[in-house]
Amino acid sequence: MNMQPKTQQSPATQTPAVEIANLSRSFQVGASLMSKGKTLRAVEDVNLSVKRGEVLGIVGESGSGKTTLSRMMLGLMKPSGGSIRIDGQNITTIGRSELSRKVQPVFQDPYSSLNPRKTIGQIISLPLETHGSGSREERTKAVEEMMLQVGLAPRLIHSYPSQLSGGQRQRVAIARALMIRPEILICDEPTSALDVSVQAQILNLLKDLREKFNLTYIFITHDLGILEFIADRVAVMYMGRVVESATAWNVMNAPRHPYAEALLGSVLTPDPKLGLPDLHLGRGFPDPLNPPTGCSFHPRCPKAMPQCSANAPRTTRDEHGLVECHLYPEGASK
Ligand SMILES: Nc1ncnc2c1ncn2[C@@H]1O[C@H](COP(=O)(O)OP(=O)(O)OP(=O)(O)O)[C@@H](O)[C@H]1O
Ligand SMILES: [Mg+2]
Repeated sequence: MNMQPKTQQSPATQTPAVEIANLSRSFQVGASLMSKGKTLRAVEDVNLSVKRGEVLGIVGESGSGKTTLSRMMLGLMKPSGGSIRIDGQNITTIGRSELSRKVQPVFQDPYSSLNPRKTIGQIISLPLETHGSGSREERTKAVEEMMLQVGLAPRLIHSYPSQLSGGQRQRVAIARALMIRPEILICDEPTSALDVSVQAQILNLLKDLREKFNLTYIFITHDLGILEFIADRVAVMYMGRVVESATAWNVMNAPRHPYAEALLGSVLTPDPKLGLPDLHLGRGFPDPLNPPTGCSFHPRCPKAMPQCSANAPRTTRDEHGLVECHLYPEGASK
């Protein structure tokens, strides 16, 4: 573990909490003795930087590569190319135990991510046991304190996950993630399995905890509306690529990529339980094994031009962030 004292840095020179450069991950699908199979590019040439204390929202439809990206950040999957730095350190040089002290996940389904045969107390204290922190009494006290922080009555310490509501279970998952005081929380659809009213409670809780514990969040969702509430910056993913990234305000009020515009149009869905919102984009998500030529969004894009099917757009970077679209050629400021 790095025992160097932490030096105070000015915000301009501060090392980002997470820095992702040219990150890619592909899968070989349908390989056999006779054939190499096909390459599925789940994440392609992603560049992102997240400052300490910032909330980066990642939004995109099912299959756009969000979970693959998060699994690489958690060290659960190796990239095919590119790099991830956590606090300036290449993730490949960080041991598993040290990485889990820095980065913790909160998953979508709080039921399947909690062991049904363990009590709430056992579940929340497990990270402390794994990392060998404190005596049994100290751990129990720490668990009770954390339960209060996440809004769980300490009497539930002897209950089992099946005896809790969905919202309470997600509070348990959050408590467990925070026990070893990580710097970064990767939340992959943490509220999409919950009722709307409970969603708001969990989002409020995550907002409070961010301040209390000085956390950095990567917040993954297919619902842009949630990100308006919680994110500072938003990265929009489409078929493995970040096609736009900007402040949450800019993406919500002045989206540039036609896909970001379409996602925004879907925010006012009547009932999140109805599944993915209708994006009014006509044809469905393309087959990732046979991606469209040129810009992969062009078959669904209401603003497609002839060059969109011929050439992939370059990435345009400016003071707002980045956008990959022929409507915004490099150097054009909009
Ligand atoms: N282990 C794997 N082997 C083969 N293909 C995979 C594997 N994991 C993911 N994929 C493919 O990679 C693409 C991205 O998947 P991923 O789970 O990252 O998407 P997602 O954005 O998280 O979707 P969702 O919103 O449904 O959770 C998909 O086409 C998926 O089928
Ligand atoms: Mg996913």
